[in-house]
Amino acid sequence: MNKNRLASRGATCCWIVPAVAVVAACAGAKPLPASDAAPAKADATLRAAPVSAAATPSVASASADRKPAFDVPYWPTPQPVVEKILELAEVKSTDVVYDLGCGDARSLVTAAQRYGATGFGVDIDVRIVNLARENVRRHGVEHLVQIKLGDMFSLDLSKADVVFVYLLDRTLERLRPQLEKMRPGARIIAHEYPLPGVKPNKTVRFLGPLDGPPGTDEGGSQKTHLLYLWKSPLRAQPKAARSR
Ligand SMILES: C[S@@+](CC[C@H](N)C(=O)[O-])C[C@H]1O[C@@H](n2cnc3c(N)ncnc32)[C@H](O)[C@@H]1O
Repeated sequence: MNKNRLASRGATCCWIVPAVAVVAACAGAKPLPASDAAPAKADATLRAAPVSAAATPSVASASADRKPAFDVPYWPTPQPVVEKILELAEVKSTDVVYDLGCGDARSLVTAAQRYGATGFGVDIDVRIVNLARENVRRHGVEHLVQIKLGDMFSLDLSKADVVFVYLLDRTLERLRPQLEKMRPGARIIAHEYPLPGVKPNKTVRFLGPLDGPPGTDEGGSQKTHLLYLWKSPLRAQPKAARSR
């Protein structure tokens, strides 16, 4: 993603972006397009363990009747990039994977289908939450993946093994106090934007479909995606490296 393209669609995306799909996603004008994330794999092993009520993280609710306080608009991560992200994070069946600002939950659907991982997604937009729940249901992974409507900044991440984010760096900065409370050994993986001031354990460049408002990845164009992996506890970056 071009950093400026997404950043400029931040808090004001609902009102200035002409793309129909984004306007639909943000302002509620039209139905969101149904996604087709995570084609079933013949060798997929689904984990049977249900997401129990006791394991359900609490999250501040976002009501459908007030305008969501968007930090980042809905730009889905293209499916091949999702697959690379899960591979980099070394997701396994015992993992609990969170997607903060989960969009249509393709990351969690794929983690459940491919690896049998449990997933928890939160998104602040009720229409996107409905899209995510439909995607989870359509792929038959309701027993593994749970989606909540709410604000990611209220979320306790202490139960997460893997946290996936496709958010702006300024948003990641705000999330840092929560990310710092993750258990030792937990992984954070970010698409495109790094967590400012924290040295990644790995940075990978991956050629994949161009992203943008829903449907962009179907246009045939490609770009290099930046992927960052951190392992908890987070390591502060030396000041000299930060200013480079
Ligand atoms: C760039 S999209 C990423 C979607 C998905 N994670 C993916 O990579 O395909 C960012 C998402 O974050 C959601 N979002 C923005 N601010 C949020 C907040 N404060 N709490 C929860 N979700 C939020 C948006 O509604 C949007 O769906």
